[in-house]
Amino acid sequence: MRIVLGVSGGIAAYKSAELARALIQNGHEVQAVLTHSAAEFITPLTFASLTGRKVITDLFDSANPMEHIAVAQESDLVLVAPATANVLARFAHGLADDFLSTLYFAFRGPVVLAPAMNNNMWEHEAVQVNLETLRRRGHTIVDPGSGFLACGSIGPGRLAETDKIVDAVERALTPPVADLDGETVLITAGPTQEPLDPVRYLSNRSSGKMGYALAQAAVDRGAQVILVSGPVALNPPKGVEVIHVRTAAEMREAVFANLEPATVVIKCAAVADFRPSVESKQKIKKTSARVSLELEPTPDILAELGRKRGDRLLIGFAAETENLETEARRKLETKNCDMVVANLVGKSETGFESDSNEVVLALRTGETIPLPRASKREIADQILGQVLKLRRDLIAKQ
Ligand code: CTP
Repeated sequence: MRIVLGVSGGIAAYKSAELARALIQNGHEVQAVLTHSAAEFITPLTFASLTGRKVITDLFDSANPMEHIAVAQESDLVLVAPATANVLARFAHGLADDFLSTLYFAFRGPVVLAPAMNNNMWEHEAVQVNLETLRRRGHTIVDPGSGFLACGSIGPGRLAETDKIVDAVERALTPPVADLDGETVLITAGPTQEPLDPVRYLSNRSSGKMGYALAQAAVDRGAQVILVSGPVALNPPKGVEVIHVRTAAEMREAVFANLEPATVVIKCAAVADFRPSVESKQKIKKTSARVSLELEPTPDILAELGRKRGDRLLIGFAAETENLETEARRKLETKNCDMVVANLVGKSETGFESDSNEVVLALRTGETIPLPRASKREIADQILGQVLKLRRDLIAKQ
């Protein structure tokens, strides 16, 4: 495919050279377009050498004054990485004053934007409003990572990792297959919080990213999606019905209130297993005495679903620190699931909070399928692929 790689002027511009290489390795042709400020950070020669094509930096220096239209017509996708606050604003508000922006407005295909900037700039209301406009336009935004920024601050703003951007490009280039059309998928995601007093609660490190990736993947594949979400810092995917809950008891209630239309239930949430037996109405005061907490078990929603599932497909999750497969098989049996997705938590690149995951699928058929490390979206699509297989097996048996 032909990809326009727009590079705008931020320190992360040097990372786009690597991105150009990764896209070429995936078999794409890359047309690099640099803004004037980008060319201050990295030379056009770098991109010309990597892509084997002339790099475009100016609107007016071409023998063809309509070059932006020609490039727009010949290209299959426009990617801008890094996308600065300025580029996002110009795209959002229709300001076309250089090659990249005129090309953007003349282009009709998929657009992927990977912003990078200082954390305060990223969090600025103006930037977030522009991003919302661009998301609503259907563009893919590859959110920046969090960490140490070139300016010395720590926070969100660092250009997403190359493989995450390449993943987003590949997905945007793949026409959606509505293979889950007709299914209603009920997904639970995130942690639960079990209050101890008005200011404290028991919870866990779940970020909700896996459940939200599943919701996005399911809706992209044509399913109706109901997402019951614990407290997370994520934007719900477009087109998904979201029910926000806090405690395990609230999650249970929301799940059973919405179970009726569901044909598939995916229990991805990291439900707290215990809650304080007594919720203090007032803040518990500090005393010099030692304090013991009495905990009681929360309702096991998945186990109850296992008893009341009817002919729905039921997928559970298992977060383990050891004995992944044995634990997955045990939960498959005890909770009466069709499949359990087991992930090893406690490692930094996978599991809770991470953008990638590595899981083992234990199926009722006896099959065990290890899924090597990939983005949570990629893993979500593979899980849904197995759900589809289970559905097809069921239909074939009828
Ligand atoms: N689960 C649930 N309700 C609970 C606890 C867990 O629905 N109160 C679901 C989770 O959503 C997940 C699965 O059960 O799909 C497994 O969760 P996990 O915490 O790994 O297992 P537990 O059953 O709690 O077993 P253990 O703590 O012994 O590992």
